[in-house]
Amino acid sequence: MDNRTGRLAGKVAIVTGAASGIGEATARRLIADGASVLLTDIQDEVGADLADELGEHARYQHCNVVREADVADAVASAVEAWGGLDVLHNNAGFGGVSGPIESTTAEGWASTIDVLLTSVFFGTKHATPAMRERGGGSIINTASVCGLHAGIGSHVYTVAKHGVVGLTRSTALELAEYSIRVNAVCPGYIATGLAAGRSRSEVDEAEMAERLDKARGWGANAQPLDRMGEPADIAAAVAWLASDDSAWVTGTTQVIDGGLTTGRPWRKLPRAITEDRPVRLYAPGTYE
Ligand SMILES: NC(=O)c1ccc[n+]([C@@H]2O[C@H](COP(=O)([O-])OP(=O)(O)OC[C@H]3O[C@@H](n4cnc5c(N)ncnc54)[C@H](O)[C@@H]3O)[C@@H](O)[C@H]2O)c1
Repeated sequence: MDNRTGRLAGKVAIVTGAASGIGEATARRLIADGASVLLTDIQDEVGADLADELGEHARYQHCNVVREADVADAVASAVEAWGGLDVLHNNAGFGGVSGPIESTTAEGWASTIDVLLTSVFFGTKHATPAMRERGGGSIINTASVCGLHAGIGSHVYTVAKHGVVGLTRSTALELAEYSIRVNAVCPGYIATGLAAGRSRSEVDEAEMAERLDKARGWGANAQPLDRMGEPADIAAAVAWLASDDSAWVTGTTQVIDGGLTTGRPWRKLPRAITEDRPVRLYAPGTYE
């Protein structure tokens, strides 16, 4: 019997890419807020250990998001375990290929689109019937500030995340008919394995901590709020979108970026803008 009373009490959620970073923080937050969560990933050992740590309201299942059958199985498992599905966080991802357009290979392009974009299509497709059965639900897609602007990520990452934003908006229109809300979160620079250049399975905890600290060092200065984003910053927004507090919110892109896409930090603006100056009269008498 689940007697928890948080704002997500009674809700069942799936988080993809839940073994580390933003997905891990989201799984932790959704459970803390009362949900039951199926954590899915391809880093099986790390994911299973995390689910063990999170306790009875967490389970882990292998799910490679580029495989449609894995995604369908994850939905079926959540429904079987807890009787339905209310929330899906399509979050799994990686950096993908980068470099000039003329040296980008077709294989690199396709595999990056598969992991970052086709995965969101699979998740949305297979969650929909389960959520319709439930009378509604909330799908939250991890896009990026790269889904709204060029020049922050590689070509294909930028294209894939723009695609996630497009799919979010397009499916939000259709699925509103069934009270299924679809929103995207658009993180800026977040201190995760992706930003540190290694996955959890590739390095031990000490090396990951060292890499994350280095990332935080350069990331602190990248946006107006002078620290890098943390996974929990994104998890808080996902939890809100998962909850009934956002009941009238669909088709949106929630930008969580410390001000990165608002403009250059005040501290980086020319002194001509930031320093106090008396009004200069170009034509004497004009401003009197
Ligand atoms: N870290 C950032 O600065 C940042 C910024 C904007 C958007 N994002 C997005 O956030 C999401 C999460 O990334 P993160 O920063 O937490 O990095 P992360 O590396 O910590 O987490 C990504 C997780 O996705 C999993 N994954 C990768 N390929 C998968 C696959 N094929 N099937 C299933 N799982 C797979 C990884 O094993 C890992 O656990 C990604 O979609 C990423 O593009 C990250």
